[in-house]
Amino acid sequence: MQSIKSTLKSQPTIFIIFGGTGDLSWRKLAPAIYNLFLENCLPEEFAIIGTGRTKLTDEDFRKTLLEGINKFSRRGKAEKEQWARFSQHIFYQISDLNKAETYQEFGARIEKHQAEWNQEPQVIYYLAVSPNFFPVIAQNIAQAGLSENPDNVRIVIEKPFGHDLESAKALNQLLGQLFEEKQIYRIDHYLGKETVQNIMAFRFANSLFEPLWNRNYIEHVQISVTEQLGVGDRGGYYEGAGALRDMVQNHILQLLCLIAMEPPTNFGADEVRNRKVDVLHAMRRFMAEEVRMNAVRGQYSRGWIEGKEVPGYREEEGVDPQSNTETFAAVKFFVDNWRWQGVPFYVRTGKRMHQTASTITIQFKDVPHFIFPPETTESWQQNRLIISIQPEMSIRMQLQAKRPGLDMVLNTVDMVFDYKGTYTFEAPEAYETLLLDTMVGDQTLFMRADQVEAAWDLLMPILHAWGAKKSLNFPNYSADSWGPEVAEALIARDGFHWVTLPLQNKK
Ligand code: BG6
Repeated sequence: MQSIKSTLKSQPTIFIIFGGTGDLSWRKLAPAIYNLFLENCLPEEFAIIGTGRTKLTDEDFRKTLLEGINKFSRRGKAEKEQWARFSQHIFYQISDLNKAETYQEFGARIEKHQAEWNQEPQVIYYLAVSPNFFPVIAQNIAQAGLSENPDNVRIVIEKPFGHDLESAKALNQLLGQLFEEKQIYRIDHYLGKETVQNIMAFRFANSLFEPLWNRNYIEHVQISVTEQLGVGDRGGYYEGAGALRDMVQNHILQLLCLIAMEPPTNFGADEVRNRKVDVLHAMRRFMAEEVRMNAVRGQYSRGWIEGKEVPGYREEEGVDPQSNTETFAAVKFFVDNWRWQGVPFYVRTGKRMHQTASTITIQFKDVPHFIFPPETTESWQQNRLIISIQPEMSIRMQLQAKRPGLDMVLNTVDMVFDYKGTYTFEAPEAYETLLLDTMVGDQTLFMRADQVEAAWDLLMPILHAWGAKKSLNFPNYSADSWGPEVAEALIARDGFHWVTLPLQNKK
């Protein structure tokens, strides 16, 4: 099915991918752009210029991207003829990011394409590099005069956006001096996921839920994003980050915003982002002494996953054997406004957990009065709405119903909307959506400067507390578990437990 966005076909486009030879480019960007090409979403005239420190020919670079596509594209291996058509748009330029000549060369390439196409192209600079290069690249682009037309130049910044509030502010300030906000696309790839985009559709395209969507009917909310994978070869990066920075500051808080936001008056990028940032502003900032009761951390030790022994975090490559970095975090948040006053939002995330699953559970309050005799309600459970983001893509409503039989016995049943059973076509990958949005200039699914800062601001008391005090019991959960005991206690204290769905295909 032809997407409406693709019919907005952008003008000739040049992608300049910094970190072109890196992992993200190989795994995600190349398959995504290629799939957009197959979907007929790219303009007739386009060029992809990868850049990196390694010396490569265009042919070498094309070969690397093809390997990535063959390995990671949701469509499987590229077909020869289509690849041949696509690959002639791919080029490579070796670069030293600190040198002005690098950017002059980009300028020359852009001019060459412009002359060939007889039209000014839009240029998308994609910064898939380590964050310490963000400032130098942005400055050099501007100094080389490559960002003069704000309507035709966009800059995409991968995460992490800052290391804390101060560094995020400094980066925003710098980018703000060089580019207009409408040119800056801060990526949070969770926002491009099909099931995440559907949260707004679910909430605001149905009249059924809004009357219940508040403190009068909802008892608590859980957001759980667990991964079976460890840090792998990203130990160097992860050591300086940890679960709170890596997952909570961005992905999880964005999910929370989608659940807690007020209805926007329209679907405009700024209106939607205004309503989301309102949530971050309303969230309760912890005093230093409150952190301990509301936020807990963990680190994995060695263990067995699917019959294979896996190392503990402190044994991973690039990790300090005494590391204090958390690979698990759970926090109990509150949104202090009329809609949500008193409703806890429990969030958790961890690596090397028992299951890879991202779910949001809305637990409704119990019925006000039980009319059934106790023996009929042995497996009584309050209503729950479970939005499963991945790997299962579904929304399920858990209800009480009478079990068929001569006696009145109640049990829990699921009403399920399951993507697999409902649609015969595959959902696009997050990066396909986000790259297309970058081309057509839609910032709805991108982070605005104030959102990033509000999220950091919220987490700073926890980061300070954890940074100031080493955890004495790390490692405190073993690989293939559900995380540390303290995380169970965090939620059990309030009389709840973490909800998990039956095991799906593992990752
Ligand atoms: C990234 C984190 O942003 O998200 C990784 O840096 C994490 O640590 C990844 O593994 C999870 O993304 P997904 O799409 O696999 O859930």
